[in-house]
Amino acid sequence: MNTAALHNLEAADRLEFPIPAGVHAERVVSVKHYTDRLFSFRITRPQSFRFRSGEFVMIGLPNAEKPVFRAYSIASPAWDEELEFFSIKVPDGPLTQHLQKIKQGDIVLMRQKSTGTLVNDALTPAKRLYMISTGTGIAPFASLIRDPETYEKFEQVILTHTCRDVAELAYGEELVATTREDPLIGEFTGGRLHHFTSTTREASSQMGRITTLIESGELFRALGTEPFDRANDRVMICGSMAMLKDVKALAERAGLKEGSNAEPADFVVERAFVG
Ligand code: A2P
Repeated sequence: MNTAALHNLEAADRLEFPIPAGVHAERVVSVKHYTDRLFSFRITRPQSFRFRSGEFVMIGLPNAEKPVFRAYSIASPAWDEELEFFSIKVPDGPLTQHLQKIKQGDIVLMRQKSTGTLVNDALTPAKRLYMISTGTGIAPFASLIRDPETYEKFEQVILTHTCRDVAELAYGEELVATTREDPLIGEFTGGRLHHFTSTTREASSQMGRITTLIESGELFRALGTEPFDRANDRVMICGSMAMLKDVKALAERAGLKEGSNAEPADFVVERAFVG
């Protein structure tokens, strides 16, 4: 019997399929749709579940004997009582075609172990931390900008988010506004948390791919900082495969070294998982 899952299930939850072993069954607390491609949701957090801000877990639905699981960055910080996720909707995605229909009270499955490289432990301390994201790649940074540890380690925290159009920036805009107002985290963010946004397919006040804006120096000019420099800067990168490759190349060109949990260094990379 999967006892870990039982606390959330009631007689009324006549699930068609058994909950696999080693998996938590959690209840959806809320769902928010941003665009026809993006939504966020919050689920209950198992009491025993521990993670480091920035890590990901495997998420699934109880809709098959062997459910499809996909990696999802946890968007909420380690101290939050609930777990938050930010997801793409892929019309024929094996998981997201179903996940996008979840409602409050539904059951979501979650494997018990979290992991990941976008964690404070994988970087050595420095003056500035750049969090470079595109699309749903903002999710792990939504966790990290709400963690006091990030501000203990870095004087300046710069979150960049680039999306196709303006509506796709809304999750990040809300996130940063509520983080600055938060009674716990707000005292760390004053003058230290910076939010830079750009769009690539719809006109906005700042346009262009983040790679172009780094190469041209426009990002640094807008922020009033200098180009990446190993002595002062650390970089975390999360987005599509192509974006990771290109931003990683720019970090390496600036002389930054890739870090890991075992060997902390100057930058870390993680794919924004979809499907
Ligand atoms: P573009 O509109 O030029 O493709 P997606 O939603 O497809 O994941 O894209 C999110 C954002 O990432 C878009 O603004 C997209 O720009 C941008 N992007 C896609 N590929 C790259 C890349 N190789 N380097 C930097 N940004 C990229």
